[in-house]
Amino acid sequence: MDDAFRRDGNESSVRNGPHPVKIAPKRRLPDALIIGVKKGGTRTLLTFLQKHPQIVANSDELHFFDKDANFSKGLEWYRKQMPAARPDQVILEKTPIYFPSLAAPERIYDSIPNVKLILIVRDPIVRLVSDYLHEKIHYRKTWSLEEAVTNTAQNGSLAVIENRNILKLSLYDEAYSRYMKFFKPEQMLILSGEKFIRDPWVELEKVQSFLGVRQAIRKENFYFNPEKQFMCMRSTGVNGFCMGDNKGRKHPKVAQKVYQVLKEYFTPSVNRFALLSQSSFCNEWLHGEV
Ligand code: A3P
Repeated sequence: MDDAFRRDGNESSVRNGPHPVKIAPKRRLPDALIIGVKKGGTRTLLTFLQKHPQIVANSDELHFFDKDANFSKGLEWYRKQMPAARPDQVILEKTPIYFPSLAAPERIYDSIPNVKLILIVRDPIVRLVSDYLHEKIHYRKTWSLEEAVTNTAQNGSLAVIENRNILKLSLYDEAYSRYMKFFKPEQMLILSGEKFIRDPWVELEKVQSFLGVRQAIRKENFYFNPEKQFMCMRSTGVNGFCMGDNKGRKHPKVAQKVYQVLKEYFTPSVNRFALLSQSSFCNEWLHGEV
């Protein structure tokens, strides 16, 4: 953890009469989960939050609630994957596939019903392009975006291939509705991925207050890096860090005809999500900025 954010030690002292009692850090089930969305800025969000002295996390995506093989290892196994935390610290876990997962909402509710859920969403077409690039690089695919998400219908017009995963992961309304069957809206903090890119401290202020930790990460902890073209974080003094090359990739231009069919496809879902989740920032989506 960084000195710039740290003011306290590794153990909590609780006063017991005149004698302070040291409480050793313990592994507990997570207090909060970053559940999605994939390519919404989840890694950056976690990385920035890990600089907070009252926040600890396992940096790996544990896929406990979405993968049957992991879930069957049991809650005790999951608890042991968590870092040890002092009573005043919050334990975070992030697996962005928890949001679209059909099984995760009920499993999370049954296991940690009072958990706080954090969701960072982004323009669904921008998310899709980011995911397309990620998959292309990761799996060395050669297809174009057009081939990845559209085909030609019988009447000769362009149509989206609805069963493609990168499209489904951008349907936030469906996933949100599944969570709301189990959780109260107040239990989920929804952040704008666009605002997080522009002014990360604004979204981080919301997270810190949602998690009940002090406002240790602030505007002065960030600077815009012209090479990276993204906000980076100051550590001690003037030195800072940016996210790696796999975060903040340059997106390809989307052909107008492809953009149009994607826009038509996502508009009802965005409208429904905005209404259900009361997220007014969705108004800036689907305006051709990819
Ligand atoms: P791109 O690489 O397509 O631009 P995730 O961590 O969920 O996979 O999200 C990746 C996205 O985080 C990146 O997508 C990038 O836009 C976004 N991001 C948000 N803030 C960032 C930052 N300060 N530095 C780098 N990427 C950031």
